[in-house]
Amino acid sequence: MLRSVILRAAGDARVKTLVAKAPVSRNMVTRFVAGESVDDAVRATRGLVQDGLRVSLDHLGEDTTNPGQAEATTKAYLALLGRLADDGLTSGAEVSVKLSAVGQALDESMATDNAHSICEAATAAGTTVTLDMEDHTTTDSTLRIHRELRLDFPSTAAVIQSYLRRSVADCRDLAAAGSRVRLCKGAYQEPESVAFQSRGEVDKSYVRCLKVLMNGAGYPMVATHDPRLVSIAGALVRQVGRAQGSYEYQMLYGVRPDEQRRLVGAGETVRVYVPYGDQWYGYLMRRLAERPANVTFFLRALATKS
Ligand code: FDA
Repeated sequence: MLRSVILRAAGDARVKTLVAKAPVSRNMVTRFVAGESVDDAVRATRGLVQDGLRVSLDHLGEDTTNPGQAEATTKAYLALLGRLADDGLTSGAEVSVKLSAVGQALDESMATDNAHSICEAATAAGTTVTLDMEDHTTTDSTLRIHRELRLDFPSTAAVIQSYLRRSVADCRDLAAAGSRVRLCKGAYQEPESVAFQSRGEVDKSYVRCLKVLMNGAGYPMVATHDPRLVSIAGALVRQVGRAQGSYEYQMLYGVRPDEQRRLVGAGETVRVYVPYGDQWYGYLMRRLAERPANVTFFLRALATKS
């Protein structure tokens, strides 16, 4: 309930101005975002890699409305990949790309070309790309672009959101040898016609999807902080006899860092999703919406400081 209120309010221009200008936002941002510059992103990556974690870097930005901006985002990824290669970090770090940031809403072929350039640079740098999944109106287009990119770059990963009713079928399509699939619950405000609304239904769908991926021949990436789902993933791994390293856990920067390190200590592969850049608004609002405690803390601080 609170989640959908926050996600709906996030689209209001007045709320955006209020949040973007409030000094308290900065404190929340630094919890979930590595910083604004490539140097900040590289510094955070190095620290995590030293702790035995892997990283997926997201240059923040989404819903690009002009081709120049899409090109600038593409160039930012190329520069990032160059830096990661120069600093010897590409064995531990890949990149996550939102297709809406490279022009998907303007022209699918432009987004495909831009994503192709990023995949090419990632391959040259010795690493890979994951295509983030956004709201349900983009799912078909994103999966189409993913299929096309995989012809040249087979390790390009897709994301499946368990809250979508279609997702078990998508998992079946994707659970083939050589494919990498990140499974998450889903972070957008979606209508009942396409998405489960209750936490219980979303979690049950997550387990159904996980079973398909774990039993398939691909590389499942279990993206959740939910202790129950992490433990179910562990049980499934044992049940199907998967070896450590044939799947991985993924969590967000700033969320359950102790659990990330506990899993690494147990021999698991764990990747941390690290966003950086100054376009943090949409990302921050989704993180607030996920956890009522974050919202309460934020609203109280906003009320006392503004
Ligand atoms: P849930 O929200 O039930 O949280 C379980 C527990 O985790 C909470 O009780 C709390 O302890 C902790 N927690 C979770 N979120 C927190 C937060 N923001 N702050 C503090 N504690 C928190 N979504 C999407 O639509 N497209 C995408 O491409 C991606 N990509 C992605 C990558 C990675 C690596 C992760 C981990 C997640 C995503 N997501 C995503 C986001 C995902 O869909 C989902 O919104 C969040 O992961 C929260 O869901 P959980 O599975 O963690 O469970």
